[in-house]
Amino acid sequence: MHGSSAKSRLAALGASFTQGNLAFHLPRCWAMLGGTTRWSDCVEALRYLMRPTQLVQGAKIEEYEQAFARTLGAKYAISFGSARVALYELLRALGIGEGADVLLSLPSHIVVANAIRYTGARPVYVDCRWEDYNIDLADAERRITPRSRVLLLQHTFGIPVDMDAALLFARRHNLLVIEDCVHALGARYDGRQAGMFGHAAIFSTEETKTISTVMGGMAVTNDPTLASRTRAFQASCSWPRRWLSAQYLMKLVVYYLLTQPHVHRFARIAHERLGRRNPLPGPTTLEERKGHRPMDYERRLSNGQAAVGLCQLSNLDQNLEHRELVANVYQAHLSGCGLRLPQAPAKAEPAFVRYPVWVEDRPKVIRALARHAVLGTWFTSVLEEAESPDVAGYEPGSCPRAEQAAQHLINLPTHSRIGARDAGMLATVLMRALSS
Ligand SMILES: Cc1ncc(COP(=O)(O)O)c(C=O)c1O
Repeated sequence: MHGSSAKSRLAALGASFTQGNLAFHLPRCWAMLGGTTRWSDCVEALRYLMRPTQLVQGAKIEEYEQAFARTLGAKYAISFGSARVALYELLRALGIGEGADVLLSLPSHIVVANAIRYTGARPVYVDCRWEDYNIDLADAERRITPRSRVLLLQHTFGIPVDMDAALLFARRHNLLVIEDCVHALGARYDGRQAGMFGHAAIFSTEETKTISTVMGGMAVTNDPTLASRTRAFQASCSWPRRWLSAQYLMKLVVYYLLTQPHVHRFARIAHERLGRRNPLPGPTTLEERKGHRPMDYERRLSNGQAAVGLCQLSNLDQNLEHRELVANVYQAHLSGCGLRLPQAPAKAEPAFVRYPVWVEDRPKVIRALARHAVLGTWFTSVLEEAESPDVAGYEPGSCPRAEQAAQHLINLPTHSRIGARDAGMLATVLMRALSS
């Protein structure tokens, strides 16, 4: 979809950034937190902030769900307050609970394991492959039991799983397939959109993902029975309070402004100092980090967030094209340097939400790049953000490659605030750090 034009833009940019002359590009370097948000998204958010009666409930939700389904070529898309809740409701709609096992690969996020555990089912952790940090089916084979019911396929960083092999495996073991496309909006396998292979899929629009409604998730399926059950669960979820919906939209605007190049250098320091005292809502609660279920877990997406989601969807092609361009720049700079770069399966077309690079000395690289970019924190644990992975039943040593990945991966930003020159400069700083 976005391949050839991105490649020609990359070629046109040519050697200027491959020389990586740092001194010329520094003023733009502070703009590297940000994300996908544009000023037009902020204007939409402000419009809803000024119309409190339409902030929480309204017609935009259905419009957004329909647009999301159309984008993927899916029959049904059902929105939730986050992808973790979409997963939880899908599992329940599939009848998964006490006595069932759900296989999932690590590294992942604590909220994914929690969504499984909250249904009463047991997460069964499977190690990843070195090439793409996706599920290792040979390891999954060893973990199959008569309780195994679901194969949750995470397209890590936006790199599609080898779906031919995974679907064969699922058929052989009579497993339901849910795709975790939280990192992978726009990725394709064998020409088809990620999310269109299994019984259902989840997507996230949390602020660090490919598109942002600050928080938000979507359950997608082509199965009418599953869709109507999931829709019934959606109807039983609570609406977010008006103040929370307003805070999400305020966060979109405030973060957009604070990540402007000329203020980001100061804002970043203030942001880091604030830490957990940040008054704007964060994505993961303290209870979730401990594996506990928050009181108001089952929440819906608000109308104002859906309006922003619609805006962002309208720019999805450019967004994906840009991410592909930036990922190509990283790859062009870093391949041949002895670094381990991701290798997608043969039929996969990744849509990199971040670009993962394996480095020996992660703290050193983070220090070297800190002035220029905020490196993603996925993954610093096999279950990101868990107080400790054993809160969700992970046995240390059981997924050694995932544990290694959680010590050695950095990931480089691909979002719209990163130009090709910035990406070239980041790659150059990275290489210098590695050779010093
Ligand atoms: C792989 C993966 N799946 C699911 C989720 C949950 O997404 P959300 O924050 O929208 O609940 C995350 C969160 O980062 C994730 O990394």
